[in-house]
Amino acid sequence: MRRNHSTTPRSPRILGSLLLLAAAGVFTLGTAPAAPAATTAAAPTPLDQVVPAPASVKPAGTPYRITRTSSVRVDGSAEVRRIGAYLTGILRPSTGYPLPLTDHGTGGISLHLAQGDYGAEGYRLHSDAGGVTITASAPAGLFHGVQTLRQLLPPAVEEKTVQPGPWQVAGGTVEDRPRYSYRGAMLDVSRHFFGVAQVKRYIDQLALYKINELHLHLSDDQGWRIAVDSWPRLATYGGSTEVGGGAGGSYTKADYREIVSYAASRYLEVVPEIDMPGHSNAALASYAELNCNGTAPPLYTGTEVGFSSLCVPKQVTYDFVDDVVRELAALTPGRYLHIGGDEAHSTSHADYVTFMDRVQPIVAKYGKTVIGWHQLTGAHPAQGALAQYWGLDRTSAADKAQVVKAAQNGTGLILSPADRVYLDMKYTKDTKLGLDWAGLVEVERSYDWNPGAYLPGAPDSAIRGVEAPLWSETLTTSADLDYMAFPRLPGAAELGWSPAATHDWDTYKVRLAAQAPRWDALGITYYRSPQVPWPTS
Ligand code: ACM
Repeated sequence: MRRNHSTTPRSPRILGSLLLLAAAGVFTLGTAPAAPAATTAAAPTPLDQVVPAPASVKPAGTPYRITRTSSVRVDGSAEVRRIGAYLTGILRPSTGYPLPLTDHGTGGISLHLAQGDYGAEGYRLHSDAGGVTITASAPAGLFHGVQTLRQLLPPAVEEKTVQPGPWQVAGGTVEDRPRYSYRGAMLDVSRHFFGVAQVKRYIDQLALYKINELHLHLSDDQGWRIAVDSWPRLATYGGSTEVGGGAGGSYTKADYREIVSYAASRYLEVVPEIDMPGHSNAALASYAELNCNGTAPPLYTGTEVGFSSLCVPKQVTYDFVDDVVRELAALTPGRYLHIGGDEAHSTSHADYVTFMDRVQPIVAKYGKTVIGWHQLTGAHPAQGALAQYWGLDRTSAADKAQVVKAAQNGTGLILSPADRVYLDMKYTKDTKLGLDWAGLVEVERSYDWNPGAYLPGAPDSAIRGVEAPLWSETLTTSADLDYMAFPRLPGAAELGWSPAATHDWDTYKVRLAAQAPRWDALGITYYRSPQVPWPTS
């Protein structure tokens, strides 16, 4: 139960003083691996000092140095040229070099599509004194290779004004491809509304870590955030507030298309969620006929859960769902439509099953694949549906067994264990933002688990990937989002991308620490966990 604040009391005085000592560097000084000299200006970043860890790295030869005369070479297609333009958009302001985009010549930085065993998102990056070549069989692979190149350059490359350099890329070859095809992040724009610019900012952060799915939690008790022409009060009234009673907001269809298209330009697919049959007060408040008693409840600005339900016996409920799903599917080029299904505590089990039996075919009718929170496995998940697991270590064996059984019967799983990758959980009891119903989740705990072994009995083929949700009951600004996502988000991204063989907290924390100057350059606020050997300057 999400809002059940049942964490055991800790010993505040002792823990508090331990934290103070740790924050003062008393613990990390003695145990930190050598200061990350690799991030100083002179020495190029070693090829393996990237997050997520690449699948294979072979250092060799001399570094490439970007200079005033370097070019960015793109082969003929418009899409490759666009990725080249994205890259020069990062490199030109900080290097101050012209870096022309060209489709002829040799040397420099080259982005190149070719047949090969790269998979849908993999790439090869080769660097030597003559240049850097990124090769992939699909544009998404080139884009991910560009993120690796970015991280191999000094953090100052992220600045918007000219920096001294030098701009070297270590020599050798990276061959890389993801462990999982679904690497997601969820943003709750319902509890507090986040506008288009804020969502774009988050998309840019996700892209840096090769995340490829943006799940938007578009409706909940506190707010409906997407315009629906056939039910206009959903947005105009249901979207008119948020937790705490602020003004809320909602996306017009044009706003939403802009988010989808920006995400696509960063190779992220948008997964829209309409949470049903619970978490539906904003809809129930907007239209009296959706309520079994025919009376609209007031708007809700608190943080309780489990009190609302669409009216399962009424036909109008399915007319409503059909309209909403039709309009949302028409805005969504992506494959998935998330129907929620969590914490339906005000819906009887029989009604829940009836509802899911009626709603899943509507999603299919409009050409989309169902994703639901894992409670969907207690009903009849449709053929091809994915269940998003948000349980914890302490989740009952029976609940886990139900999810595992569904996976054995063909339901794919997205893993979002709340006591690992819910980015809104407090890091420590002293974290001001966030919640603690799933426990306190420090950086090591968030990173140190294996998606492939997490639910014993679930077939390997059922594990489609990892998603890190960011719920926003306590979060109101982009700085708040940053602080909860960083530094845990890169760990979730690595769990989704990197081979299990690279998984190692002691080496990960050094790579993670080296990201901090990049976050500083990008204006990303982050939690300076005492578990991570941050650079001192
Ligand atoms: C959830 O946290 N209720 C999915």
